Formats: sequence, C-alpha cells, structure tokens
Amino acid sequence: MIQTMKQQLKEAIIGYYGNNDLNVVVEEPKRGNADLAVPLFALVKQLNKKMPELVEEISAIVLKAELIESATFLNGFLNMSIDKVKFSKLVLDQVFEEQSDYGKDSILKTVCIDYSAPNIAKSFSIGHLRSTMIGNALKNIYTKLGYKVVGINHLGDWGTQFGKMIVAYKLWGNRALIESNPITELQKLYVKFHEEVEANPSLEDDARKVFKQLEDGDQDTLALWQYFRDESLKEFMSMYDLLGVSFDTYDGESFYNDKMEPIADKLDELGLLVEDDGAMIVRLENLPPALIKRRDGATLYITRDLAALFYRYNTYHFDKVLYVVGNEQKLHFEQLAAVTKLMGHQFDIEHVNFGLVLQDGKKMSTRGGRVVKLYDVIKEAINQAELAITAKNPNLADKDKVAKAVGIGAVIFNDLKNDRNLEIEFNLEQMLAFEGQTGPYLQYSSVRIASILKQQTLKPLTDFNIFNEPLYFELIKQIASFNQTLKKAVEVNGPHVLSRYLLQLSQTFNQFYGQHKIITEDEAVKNANLHLIQAIRTILNEGLRLLGMTALDEM
Ligand code: ARG
Repeated sequence: MIQTMKQQLKEAIIGYYGNNDLNVVVEEPKRGNADLAVPLFALVKQLNKKMPELVEEISAIVLKAELIESATFLNGFLNMSIDKVKFSKLVLDQVFEEQSDYGKDSILKTVCIDYSAPNIAKSFSIGHLRSTMIGNALKNIYTKLGYKVVGINHLGDWGTQFGKMIVAYKLWGNRALIESNPITELQKLYVKFHEEVEANPSLEDDARKVFKQLEDGDQDTLALWQYFRDESLKEFMSMYDLLGVSFDTYDGESFYNDKMEPIADKLDELGLLVEDDGAMIVRLENLPPALIKRRDGATLYITRDLAALFYRYNTYHFDKVLYVVGNEQKLHFEQLAAVTKLMGHQFDIEHVNFGLVLQDGKKMSTRGGRVVKLYDVIKEAINQAELAITAKNPNLADKDKVAKAVGIGAVIFNDLKNDRNLEIEFNLEQMLAFEGQTGPYLQYSSVRIASILKQQTLKPLTDFNIFNEPLYFELIKQIASFNQTLKKAVEVNGPHVLSRYLLQLSQTFNQFYGQHKIITEDEAVKNANLHLIQAIRTILNEGLRLLGMTALDEM
C-alpha cells in the first residue's frame, strides 16, 4: 500500500507539471520521523524554480492525497507524514475482510513451472528436494497473485542412463532384491555399472544400443523400463505425500519420445541442423553447440526439452516458463534458449537455478558413496521435532500432527530462507531450533498469538489512535507491504523474499510483545492490540502456507 501511495504521489507531481521526463523520487527515509520524502534539489534545477516556490507547489500537491497528513521542508527534502489513524484503519479493515485472501492479486497470465523432476531408478536427491520446495513455493505465490500456474514434473524417465540400467540389470540384477527395495537396489546397479565400465569400456556401447532399442519400442526393453518407472514413482509419491506437494502433470522425458522428430525436421528446414562427425548439432554463438542427435540416432536431454517447450507452448499457451533446476545445468538452459531463439521464438523462459546442499561442508550426492535417502532424513526431522515438542509441552494434543508440521516446516524453511543461488547447509539441529531464522520460530510466533487470542473476544475496532505509536505503525506498514512482497518474490523468482519478510514480521511482533502489555487495562488499547496481532497471525499463516509449510494453533 505504501508502494501504491508512492506511485500515486509521483504521478500527481509529474501530472501537475505535465512533464514525463521529470525526475521525481518518492522515498521512505531510513532516518528521521518522516514516512515519505521527496528530494527537491534535482527538481529545482530541472524545473528552474526557486526552492520556496517549489516547496509550496509540491506541498499543495501531496497534501491533496487522502493519507498524507503533513508536509514540511527540511534539508532539501519535502518530508511527509502519513495519517496513521486512517492508514491503519484501511489496512486492518482489509485484512479482516479478506482474511487469508489478503495480499492476493489478479495478474491474468499463464506460467509453467517445471520443478522437482527426479530421475527414475535413482533416489530422490537433496537437489530434487530443493527444486521441489522452491518450485512449490513459487507455484503457490504465483497462484495467489492470480496467475494460472501449470505445475510440471518433468520426470527423468528417458535417456541413455536407462540403457545403462538395463544392461546392469541383465548382468547383475536380482529381481527378488529389487522387489523388496526398488530404488536402492536399482541405484546400486547403476553405481556398479559406473565402476565396471572403467575396466570394460564396451559396456558404454552396449548401453547405447539398449537405449536405442528402447527408443525404437522394443517390447522386452520397454517392459523393464516400465517396471523401473512404476516402482520409482511409487517411492517419489510417498515423498510428495509427506511434503504435501502436487503437480498438474507428470509428463516426463519419455512423453516426448514421439514428439522430437518434428523438432529435428523443423531445425533441418530452417537450415540450423548440421552434421558433425555423424551426429546432428545446432551451432550456437558464444556457446558450445547443442547436440540434437547422436551418431546412432539417439536423442538427448536437450532434444526432449525442446520438444517439451513447444508442446507446452501449444498446450498451455504460457506467458513464461520457469525451470527450477540446480546451477550445474546452466549451460543446458542457455543452449535451450539459444536454439529456440534461432528458431525464431522469443519465449520468456527462465532457469530458476539454485546452489548446492552441503552436509558438514561437503556436497550431498546420490551417486557414489554418499547416498542419502531423503525420505528417511525427513522422517528423522519429524522425530527430532517430536522430541523437542515433548520437552517443551508434554501434554500437547495431536503431537504427531504438530511434529510433522514442525519437522517438515524446518526442512522447508531452511531451504527457502536465503537467496536460492546460495549453497545451503543441511543441519537438522540448527534448522529445528525454536529461536533464530528457522521454520519453528515462525510457527511459534503464530502459536504465541493464537494462545493470547484464545481467551479473548474481539470487539469491533473504532479507536485507532494508538497506531500513532512508532512500533504499532511499523507493524501496520509491514502488514501493508504483503502484496508488494509477493510481487517482488515473483519478480526475482525467489521465495526467500517472502521468507525474509515473515522473519521480519515475526521479529517485530516479538519485539512488540516484549515491550507492550497486550492484555492491558485500557480497553481501547487492548482491543487495538488484539486486532493487530490477529492481523499479524493471518499474514504469518498465509505466508507459511505459501512457502509450503503448515501453521499451527498449538505446539
Ligand atoms: N531430471 C533432471 C535432473 O534430475 C531435471 C529436469 C529438469 N527439467 C527440465 N525440463 N530439464 O537433473
């Protein structure tokens, strides 16, 4: 809302002088008592006026705005103060009317979000968890702002690795073992393949041949592939259920097996497809060429992504597509963008990249020795949350439900609290702390409000005078900037923008709680306090939901 006011004031000033090039800035000063300020020196020059005259004119303009209560000149700035009573009433009334809808918007665009996308026959890695969490939060935030969102799980269910998998299975596979523990056993086979291939490089050729059979629809090979896929998906679904995440489609790479030929033809028609040592490539400026077909005719990851992009465009008519994938695939998405550009399309596609997850400073990985079964890690977070809760509140009802919300919330928030480009450290003890920048801290702030409100009845709020107090008004301003925060989050595709906002709101609330007696004798102040904290809880809970977390009444 402050943002809107700033914009309106700016427009009013520009409109008054009828000069669109006028360099008008309306800012929120960090120091001093002003709520808003306009720096005047540049305007004096640009308009060629004397300062007193300018002060008079601009004061008159801004004072016409309903929520501006005074304007004074100081040190080259026109300082304004907002009518805090009116402003607070507007904000709180809106929160109470809209409840969890507060902050919504009506941006009518379509965005495809490609996230999670684990690989069949491999365990769900911590990198896939990051993608799942970031993508899910973005999906919620975009939806709240009115976008039509298509959540896509572009499963890694096709490619030469299935050739390797099947070769390994035929050589060393044990069906009974696989039945009892599919992904773990399949992954062992995959690791074994990579170990054996060093001594026996021809295995690579075998794998390529088998993948070719798969692409050509060989029945036996397909049946094995289908079996790997079904078993893997079962395991992935239990993960999604645990996290409360869902997708609009699970069309993975295999879905594009019959949709790549037209793309290759199109590239050929445009003269972009060239032969290089038997393979078919597209040469790119400033980037390594995109390999579209191998020498044996097999397609590649990028070939399937090209087909997927055009399919999505024709099916969903997107305005933009986000790919929530780790930093290591930067080149891939640059190539994808470059090829489509050469084909004459200006798709708005963005690689929403993110950093590694470290444990004790080392990369967590699914290949090689450091195998992590994420499902167990999250279960462990829930167990530890249960211990912490039991210690704090032994008589808590619904302990299982609370432990699940706290444990999972801790993992999610650890992921989303910082800029996604940064590496994150996976440390259960730290992320489960009730103090500091953690999920439990946010949930606890909301619970603290719930427990205050529990024994109270709110009367209609008529007296807003207390909102002239700085800390009160600071909280009102924070509440008022919820929508703006969500828009900023979408602008940079960064859920951390929302996370930081929620941390700040919680911190300011806790400061308020420390400084003010909420249930005070003065009935008018008490009622205002209750309305204020209730509004804060509405925002906190909705913010948590958007991040993919669960708000609680008790913990
Ligand atoms: N399955 C891939 C991986 O695990 C991620 C796929 C991302 N999405 C895409 N359209 N390329 O690395």
